[in-house]
Amino acid sequence: MVERLVTTAQNDFSSAERAAVYRALRERRDVRAGYLPQPMDDPTLYRLLSAAHQAPSVGFMQPWRFIVVRDLALRAAVHRIFERANSDATGRYGGDQKELYSRLKLEGLREAPQHLCVLCDEDSERGHYLGRNSMPETSIYSVVCAIQNLWLAARTEGIGVGWVSILDPPRVKELLRIPASAQLVAYLCLGYVKEFAEVPDLERDGWEQRAELAPLVRADYFDQPYAAYHEMR
Ligand SMILES: Cc1cc2nc3c(=O)[nH]c(=O)nc-3n(C[C@H](O)[C@H](O)[C@H](O)COP(=O)(O)O)c2cc1C
Repeated sequence: MVERLVTTAQNDFSSAERAAVYRALRERRDVRAGYLPQPMDDPTLYRLLSAAHQAPSVGFMQPWRFIVVRDLALRAAVHRIFERANSDATGRYGGDQKELYSRLKLEGLREAPQHLCVLCDEDSERGHYLGRNSMPETSIYSVVCAIQNLWLAARTEGIGVGWVSILDPPRVKELLRIPASAQLVAYLCLGYVKEFAEVPDLERDGWEQRAELAPLVRADYFDQPYAAYHEMR
């Protein structure tokens, strides 16, 4: 069986194409600053949304819904919602961590030329509950897959994306007239940028660093390390 797979599988990605995909994965960043004022035209945004729309989804449900937020008053209102949520979040930390948290830049809502609100339509019967009978949360997972597609496609277009989760979802839902049946999954800032940082901002700012991969991979049982990867370190 293994032999058959090896002999028949044709990889139609050239090594350059493969390298480009891995490069996009490696060099995607969460972008909260440095947006250029250049607006994003509709064909470009449509390309990004089409990338999102190619995502896998439970039962082929395609539960993603997008609101393109361009109205300046709405955008300002979302920023006010962020400020309140962020002030609440600051209160959860103490000492040096609080001081560091309050210095972090955790959104680019005012600077980004484009906002995008991403929702999950929990009420949709598309996909006929396949997979959702046992794991209803997979509708949300599907939307997250779509967001990642958009994020990677944006990277290849020189467009930075920043995910803002420091918000009060009911207030955002009320503001954007989102029905109760739709769940707010992400509020994104988008815009062309001159460059992408080499490391995540949170690593640069001393908040957190990238974990090593090997200890996260286990063999057969959760409590059993995958020895081969430990040796590869
Ligand atoms: C579900 C989710 C929510 C996030 N929310 C925020 C946020 O509210 N503010 C922020 O600055 N970054 C947010 N981020 C971005 C992360 O901070 C970022 O992905 C992480 O620090 C790694 O950096 P990188 O994306 O540049 O590799 C979020 C990312 C995800 C996946």
